[in-house]
Amino acid sequence: MSKIALITGANKGIGLETAKQLLALGYTVLVGARDAEKGSQAATDLGNGATFVHVDMTASDSFADLAKSIEANHGGLDILINNAGVGLDWGVPPSEVSQDLLRETYETNVFGVIALTQALLPLLKKSEAGRIVNLTSNIGSLTNQSDSRELKDYNAAVAYCSSKAALNMFTVLLAKELRSTNIKVNSAHPGWVQTDMGGEQAPMKIPDGAKTSVWLATLPEDGPTGGFFHMQKPLGW
Ligand SMILES: NC(=O)c1ccc[n+]([C@@H]2O[C@H](COP(=O)([O-])OP(=O)(O)OC[C@H]3O[C@@H](n4cnc5c(N)ncnc54)[C@H](OP(=O)(O)O)[C@@H]3O)[C@@H](O)[C@H]2O)c1
Repeated sequence: MSKIALITGANKGIGLETAKQLLALGYTVLVGARDAEKGSQAATDLGNGATFVHVDMTASDSFADLAKSIEANHGGLDILINNAGVGLDWGVPPSEVSQDLLRETYETNVFGVIALTQALLPLLKKSEAGRIVNLTSNIGSLTNQSDSRELKDYNAAVAYCSSKAALNMFTVLLAKELRSTNIKVNSAHPGWVQTDMGGEQAPMKIPDGAKTSVWLATLPEDGPTGGFFHMQKPLGW
């Protein structure tokens, strides 16, 4: 039986491409999306048995039912790719970011991801080789942001950047908690990618932007856990 992967925010961008690449590798893909019409359309366009599942990262009270329905309809879950994310404060300096922007960003990028992961962990623990991939970013890296050679002019989007730093910490601590299980937990920086979020000036095309997620989702037993990677290379936290 093929392994089952849930990808959040899979109706477009890096999530949609990750779904396409995992389907090509023979995985069963659950296309997570908050908008039923967009999610169903994406699943239809992907074909190969891709199935839409409703996942709104801000609706954590629906996650227990989601876990039940995945178990009932698909028999389990092997891979969770926490791909859905928002960036709402591009260009806003830290001295001006509002509480509303901070809260809205954290609801999706941090609280939603942790709640969804917790709800699906019992299913992932039953898998022979559970894999959790958290999409974060090199602009959420304290190492990069504090290195004068890297990102030297980048001084905005503290809500987005700190939400990804928080998610990186979740990766590290969850990987430690699960180190005696079959589950690997890693963070992925996809690159700066030409999506609605990345914009047209981004240097990477979407097919390359999904490669890090696909690699971490399909890691062999001797692969890493508790790491932060871009294109199979480790990044500083
Ligand atoms: N693109 C880059 O350069 C880049 C760089 C570093 C990291 N990343 C990370 O990579 C991931 C994918 O980014 P992307 O570039 O593909 O972005 P994107 O094209 O903007 O797509 C984001 C996806 O997340 C979904 N989403 C947002 N809020 C949601 C919520 N509350 N519930 C469920 N789904 C939600 C969106 O759904 P809707 O269509 O309904 O809005 C969409 O499917 C994100 O976590 C992002 O932070 C991207």
